[in-house]
Amino acid sequence: MKGFISGLPKVELHLHLEGTLEPELMFTLAERNNVILPYSSIESLKAAYQFHDLQAFLDIYYQGALVLQTEQDFYDLTYAYLKRCKEEHIIHTEVFFDPQIHTQTGTPFDTVTGGVTRALKDGEANLGITSGLIMCFLRDLSEDEAIETLKQAILYKDDIVAVGLDSSESGNPPEKFERVFAMARNTGFKTVAHAGEEGSADYIWGAINALKVDRIDHGVRCSDDPKLVDYLVEHQLPLTVCPLSNVQLNVFDDIAHHNIVDLLKQGVLVTINSDDPAYFGGYLNENYLAVAEAFDLTKQEVARFSENAIKASFLSDEKKQLLQ
Ligand code: HPA
Ligand code: ZN
Repeated sequence: MKGFISGLPKVELHLHLEGTLEPELMFTLAERNNVILPYSSIESLKAAYQFHDLQAFLDIYYQGALVLQTEQDFYDLTYAYLKRCKEEHIIHTEVFFDPQIHTQTGTPFDTVTGGVTRALKDGEANLGITSGLIMCFLRDLSEDEAIETLKQAILYKDDIVAVGLDSSESGNPPEKFERVFAMARNTGFKTVAHAGEEGSADYIWGAINALKVDRIDHGVRCSDDPKLVDYLVEHQLPLTVCPLSNVQLNVFDDIAHHNIVDLLKQGVLVTINSDDPAYFGGYLNENYLAVAEAFDLTKQEVARFSENAIKASFLSDEKKQLLQ
């Protein structure tokens, strides 16, 4: 099974670039930019990676992201992930970035977006990996701040395929961002949103009805509402599920209790993704393997996840057909 998964051509749809910041690169960039990290060694940093919930993770994730300051830093981060994609046989990836983490502390939007897009272009030219870039709004900030960020993204319309919504879910429902998502859709961006990771099934309905999203990120709490599961099946609205992340953040006690295989069997368009692999201890192949082993899946069942990801991607129908 391990060999089968490694060799399977895969598509990733839920990956935060800042969540691929490996401890080694974090220390290198901290030194390059004279940032003092509150950890004396890579080992003590890794020892802090014990998250009892989403907020505990976000606190460490935002702190780590502050070592990223120059265009070259964003390039190096992105290109390192793409090299990992090559090793993992990921042929297409749609990646999130959180510009507001960086603009809030004085790094210009152009520095962030410039470095990321230059690496994505080089990744396609040198490694043959195609990609889409998804700009997330931080949902714990205001909608006005999201609108300011959207205005900056419009100048990069050719480089950014979609907008998304991430960060602290509880208390920040999708409805808070109804206007900015309407503006984004009217400008021609696709839309996605994290919903139903820690938040209830109502947050998923909010992403569907108020934000009119093309995909739901996580969405695992849909199981609490049978009508919602029926809706997801009927409309084949994709869920980008992140199994190892969900276990690390205590959304499920362990992989054996995860609902992804149940949802697959009910006909939901579920996909497997790695979320923040540098923090959650596993890139895409490890997420596939954890699910395959816990549920004793056949190769055919495992391949369904990859077929679903092609279907759920923002690739053109023509390109999807070439990959199927
Ligand atoms: N959930 C919400 N926000 C995030 C995550 C996540 O899993 N990863 C990075 N930002
Ligand atoms: Zn995520």
